[in-house]
Amino acid sequence: MDATEFCLSILESGDLAVKLAPAPRDLDVRKHDQRAPTAPPDRPARSASLAMSGGAGRLPRPGQLGDPEARARCIARFAHHELMAVELFAWALLRWPDQPAALKRGWLRVLSEEQEHCRLYVERLGALGFSLADFRHSDYFWKHIPSIGTSSHGIVAFLCAVGLTFEQANLDFTPRYARAFRAVGDAATARVCDLVHAEEIGHVALAATWVRRLTPGDADAAPSDLVAAYEQAIPFPLSAARAKGRPFDLEARRRAGLEASFIEYVRSARSTVQLSNPAGDGVPGGDTRRPPQ
Ligand SMILES: [Fe+2]
Ligand SMILES: [Fe+2]
Repeated sequence: MDATEFCLSILESGDLAVKLAPAPRDLDVRKHDQRAPTAPPDRPARSASLAMSGGAGRLPRPGQLGDPEARARCIARFAHHELMAVELFAWALLRWPDQPAALKRGWLRVLSEEQEHCRLYVERLGALGFSLADFRHSDYFWKHIPSIGTSSHGIVAFLCAVGLTFEQANLDFTPRYARAFRAVGDAATARVCDLVHAEEIGHVALAATWVRRLTPGDADAAPSDLVAAYEQAIPFPLSAARAKGRPFDLEARRRAGLEASFIEYVRSARSTVQLSNPAGDGVPGGDTRRPPQ
């Protein structure tokens, strides 16, 4: 099996076990280059129990996790975000087969960590007596794939959307929910959130590194200027307002190697809701209904 076949198996099988099967140890990303580019499907295959719909209802708030059903709904949501992340990295590897081998290796590493995150959340769900089949699943991340796939910014649009928006936001969601799971005595799920948080820092770092490397410098945007690169490439309607939750985890962003100017840009970003209603309830760009991944 080469990298193309591995990624296609994730997208073309609807079965969770196939999507979470680890890559062969000796997978050679360079073989990927030798094959004709494979246009990836713009939706993944899903078995009936994993079918996606337009929405999945509101994410339970941290204070609601004392209710076992709400706790399971929350874990299912997180597990499904991880599953979408697995699929999106497989999609990206197929969509841009001629990308640098170092980036491919980085994405394959991230993909395997997303598989592990999903597996761990699904295990916790099972321990509570539930499975993914018991819940509805939103197609939130996949909805953005058509605009990413056709963006003139190509891979950089993907890195900005997935790495610097969805994954960056998860730097805030994971510690918040880890605390909430601990508060209701679910230390095992809290530990999964801790692990996801720690590894998400590496995912954000990888995205930032490659946005800097792949953004051509010019008079307006030097390659190292992450704010300019992000503003150019982030596909509408995503924006920095969606790259965070509350509370804002400054230290995790520093550990991901994000420069102070980009951290401040994200910290101060306001959603269109906030801009049109500055005296409102301050629903953040990091709206808790917006899924972490
Ligand atoms: Fe993850
Ligand atoms: Fe991630």
